[in-house]
Amino acid sequence: MRPLALLLLAHLALLAAAPAAEAKGGGAGLDDDVLGLIVFKADVTDPDGRLTTWSEYDARACNWAGVTCDARTGRVSALSLAGFGLSGKLGRGLLRLEALQSLSLARNNLSGDVPADLARLPALQTLDLSGNAFAGAIPNGLFSRCRALRDVSLAGNAFSGDIPRDVAACATLASLNLSSNRLAGALPSDIWSLNALRTLDLSGNAVTGDLPVGISKMFNLRALNLRGNRLTGGLPDDIGDCPLLRSVDLGSNSLSGNLPESLRRLSTCTYLDLSSNEFTGSVPTWVGEMASLEVLDLSGNKFSGEIPGSIGGLMSLKELRLSGNGFTGGLPESIGGCKSLMHVDVSWNSLTGALPGWVFASAVQWVSVSENTLSGEVSVPANASSELRGVDLSNNVFSGVIPSEISKLQNLQMLNMSWNSFSGSIPPSILAMKSLEALDLTANRINGSIPAVIGGDSLKELRLGKNSLTGKIPPQIGNCSSLASLDLSRNNLTGTIPETIANLANLQTADLSRNQLTGGLPKNLSNLPHLLHFNISHNQLSGDLPPGSFFDTIPLSSVADNPGLCGAKLNSSCPGVLPKPIVLNPDSSTDPLSQTVPVPAGGPRHKKTILSISALVAIGAAVLIAVGVITITVLNLRVRTPGSHSAAVLELSDGYLSQSPTTDVNAGKLVMFGGGNPEFSASTHALLNKDCELGRGGFGTVYKTNLRDGQPVAIKKLTVSSLVKSQVEFEREVKMLGKLHHRNLVALKGYYWTPSLQLLIYEFVSGGNLHKLLHESSTTNCLSWKERFDIILGIARSLAHLHRHDIIHYNLKSSNILLDGSGEAKVGDYGLAKLLPMLDRYVLSSKVQSALGYMAPEFACRTVKITEKCDVYGFGVIILEILTGRTPVEYMEDDVIVLCDVVRGALDEGKVDECVDERLCGKFPPEEAIPIMKLGLVCTSQVPSNRPDMYEVVNILELIRCPQDSPETELG
Ligand SMILES: *[C@@H]1O[C@H](CO)[C@@H](O)[C@H](O)[C@H]1NC(C)=O
Ligand SMILES: *[C@@H]1O[C@H](CO)[C@@H](O)[C@H](O)[C@H]1NC(C)=O
Ligand SMILES: *[C@@H]1O[C@H](CO)[C@@H](O)[C@H](O)[C@H]1NC(C)=O
Repeated sequence: MRPLALLLLAHLALLAAAPAAEAKGGGAGLDDDVLGLIVFKADVTDPDGRLTTWSEYDARACNWAGVTCDARTGRVSALSLAGFGLSGKLGRGLLRLEALQSLSLARNNLSGDVPADLARLPALQTLDLSGNAFAGAIPNGLFSRCRALRDVSLAGNAFSGDIPRDVAACATLASLNLSSNRLAGALPSDIWSLNALRTLDLSGNAVTGDLPVGISKMFNLRALNLRGNRLTGGLPDDIGDCPLLRSVDLGSNSLSGNLPESLRRLSTCTYLDLSSNEFTGSVPTWVGEMASLEVLDLSGNKFSGEIPGSIGGLMSLKELRLSGNGFTGGLPESIGGCKSLMHVDVSWNSLTGALPGWVFASAVQWVSVSENTLSGEVSVPANASSELRGVDLSNNVFSGVIPSEISKLQNLQMLNMSWNSFSGSIPPSILAMKSLEALDLTANRINGSIPAVIGGDSLKELRLGKNSLTGKIPPQIGNCSSLASLDLSRNNLTGTIPETIANLANLQTADLSRNQLTGGLPKNLSNLPHLLHFNISHNQLSGDLPPGSFFDTIPLSSVADNPGLCGAKLNSSCPGVLPKPIVLNPDSSTDPLSQTVPVPAGGPRHKKTILSISALVAIGAAVLIAVGVITITVLNLRVRTPGSHSAAVLELSDGYLSQSPTTDVNAGKLVMFGGGNPEFSASTHALLNKDCELGRGGFGTVYKTNLRDGQPVAIKKLTVSSLVKSQVEFEREVKMLGKLHHRNLVALKGYYWTPSLQLLIYEFVSGGNLHKLLHESSTTNCLSWKERFDIILGIARSLAHLHRHDIIHYNLKSSNILLDGSGEAKVGDYGLAKLLPMLDRYVLSSKVQSALGYMAPEFACRTVKITEKCDVYGFGVIILEILTGRTPVEYMEDDVIVLCDVVRGALDEGKVDECVDERLCGKFPPEEAIPIMKLGLVCTSQVPSNRPDMYEVVNILELIRCPQDSPETELG
């Protein structure tokens, strides 16, 4: 086809040189149509294949896509290729279509310039080249040679230069659309001589100069659109004498002067837009005579005076836009008489007086009176309009309460009452409105709390900042599934940020700054996919920032001034002092974690004492205690010898388990390290009684029981079952802990495993725990200096041993340090964090929360790796605790006393010996007491790397001890 096209091009190039009328001589008109279109096709690219029906072998073009022929002559009369996706140049092929009346190439991607001869096609009436990429000047002669042209659109191209001076020569023109090009220069002075013209659209160009005089000659003109140019001067005085003018858009120019009085004669005009110009003067009363007006837009000018009440007579008026002028006086009540009015914008004027009643009681849908000085109370009448969709009362001086009747406006989507002087509380019914999308009450004097009924599905924007709201952020806020923007800043809100905020999947910006919020940030906040801004500065929040890139890169200003908050952004030097409201007694039996395990509250309590291995298993059945006696049948007993450690393995078929749908019916597995005693196979009925409970900790509840041979054991029922690793990993970790023999560690003797229940069996240590010994007033025991020192040294040695085996204790506190009959310290509860799938800091810190005061500051900081140095910190606290007899953190009425700080202060004042426990039995040597106190302080350094290793601590302690033990130093 290419060679053919080239051939044709050559042929046509010859023909084009001769006048079209002469070329017709051969009577080859029909062939000309086919040839002309094939040449047109050869010039363009047709990526969508819309022109595939166009074949040069066809004798006629009438069945081709986009082609219409005249039924009588068979000649092509219309070519409509709008939106065909064509690109390339508009060649000369179409000039052959002598019978063409209508040509539309709109919305393609044709470029280059337009052949001036196009207008010479004798029959062409409609030429639509809009929405292409044609550029350059509109060709000279396009209009001067026009024959039958009526409708021309060159809109939406890149034409530049002047509007062609010859346009007025095309007297047949009825519509001319040159909008959205780059045309410049002034309007041709004779443009108004186009008196057949009905519509003229030159909008969106860069036309300059004044409007020429004589527009009243345009007695056919219906629509005039010169919007978006650079026109200057005034409106033609005779503009109102164009009798058919319906639509006038002169917006966004630089027109000035007063409104000419002739306008009052445009009684059929429906659309008058003079916005964004520099018109001055007042809007005369006669505007009420423009009885057909549907849209009156005078916004963004310099009009002054009062809004004429006569506007109320415009029965067809739908939109009244007067914003951004200098109007004064009141907003006329009469406007309520405009029965068709839907949209009113009088914002940014200097209006005074009260809000007229029609705002809430007419067919109006959108009203803005923003940025005026309207005042008084806002009342919503009984017959409130159900049409109202949006009200903007912002930036006035309205006062009084927010009327709860607003909630009657069932279609209300937007309510903006910000920057006024409204007072009282937020009526709950407003927040429950089903259709409300945006509520802005910013900067008023609103008090009370945020109603908990909040939670419309449609609410996207809620702004309550800069008020005097108190109380908590209601968790129901999490029900606002569409919420994208939330501003509660600068109030007096207290309590925590509800976890439910992390449910707001569409949240983009949240400002909670400058309140008195406490507690930590919901961790799941980092899952919010659209979050852009999250400002929580100037509160009393604490803990780590949530993980993830959003909070890693949050601007410092968004989190500033929260003394307890730490994280990557905050220098990672987390404060050691935890916020006061978390009042936790290390011995507390209200461990939040253990409460997640159902423990029967009442039920019959059998006082039978159990002396059987079966008890181990029965502990797991705490759920079923109320059921009564639990039978355990030992089905099978094998003994095996794994390595140097022989273990007794009992496979227990737990008859009781089948009673509970939640527990596993499979056999549990009991393993005792160090060799099994066949006597363990007792098939005794067993029941575990709460009286045997020894205590509860972060990882579980501890019971005391005796083995069959009478040996007492402590059994820890893990309450972190759901988090525990697989059986294989669990067993591997537990066996490793079982190998850690040390005189200062509570020995792990065995374990019991089912998927839903894990027990750890420890040696029973008879002397109670250090916490009781030190702090419980009823205790008559008092510890001597030597006993205290021995305990410290024992703990240090056990920790050094753990660390040598790469085990971090994680949960060091005085209640985990037991004393045996001879006063030897035995550290328990070590390494349990290793049983969890990963060392998730959040899980971990909630487990060791009861160890408040012992917890190294890096626990609160995600960015710092947790190492064995966290144990050194806890150990340092224990040193101070043992020496002073005080708890790590003491809660006074209005104060929190942190032990380390007390000792540090005393050391600075040289009075450290005054810190030593008054209840200490006998005397203490200051030459030991002071170095140990110092050691305790070094161990509690905020920065982990500043703390010594445990083996160094042991060395130091042994060095401190030496002088006392050696008589030489006593002499020296
Ligand atoms: C429009 O045409 C130009 C060149 O003529 C080409 O670069 C561009 O990709 C085309 N655009 C589309 C949307 O086809
Ligand atoms: C002029 O053409 C543009 C683009 O095709 C169109 O949006 C606009 O409505 C036209 N103007 C008139 C008055 O028809
Ligand atoms: C908010 O709380 C601060 C500090 O408690 C107090 O000074 C201020 O008066 C309170 N503001 C309001 C509006 O209640």
